[in-house]
Amino acid sequence: MRKPLVILLSAAALIASGTLIASATSSKTAVTNGDDSEAVEPCKSKQKTGLVKGACKKGGQKAAKKAMKSWVKKVKKAKKAGGDTGYKLTCKACHTSLKGAYPLKADGMEQFKKLNAWLKTQK
Ligand code: HEC
Repeated sequence: MRKPLVILLSAAALIASGTLIASATSSKTAVTNGDDSEAVEPCKSKQKTGLVKGACKKGGQKAAKKAMKSWVKKVKKAKKAGGDTGYKLTCKACHTSLKGAYPLKADGMEQFKKLNAWLKTQK
């Protein structure tokens, strides 16, 4: 069982370095490339949102975290662009914990849905 893992890891490393080279030439790269290898920590929640579901499917919880982080960044940027310079959004606004299954606050999903719908109206 050891050898296939080594092959897999080096394949992942190759993909990752390919992503690096690609990102050097083009500014936009796929977020989850290189996370497609096996042995990733799967997501723990029952995903309902397209954003998290897609990321979990591709790269497990690590990819979901990455996707959430860049989503939060996007929201903050759009709020700022709209003139809301004091706007803050932290992971803990929606999550009670950033470990395990990343449990949500009672209104975590609702907050996400509202913000995501709003985000889609922004450019
Ligand atoms: C506006 C609310 C909101 C904020 C802010 C937020 N999240 Fe989330 N997060 C959610 C929701 C809702 C889900 C569940 C999505 C689903 O079920 O499809 C989720 C799911 C996740 C998951 C998947 C967990 C699993 O195992 O299934 C991770 C990881 C995660 N968030 C990390 C983060 C991190 C890191 C931050 C801060 C950078 C963050 N989130 C900020 C609402 C939020």
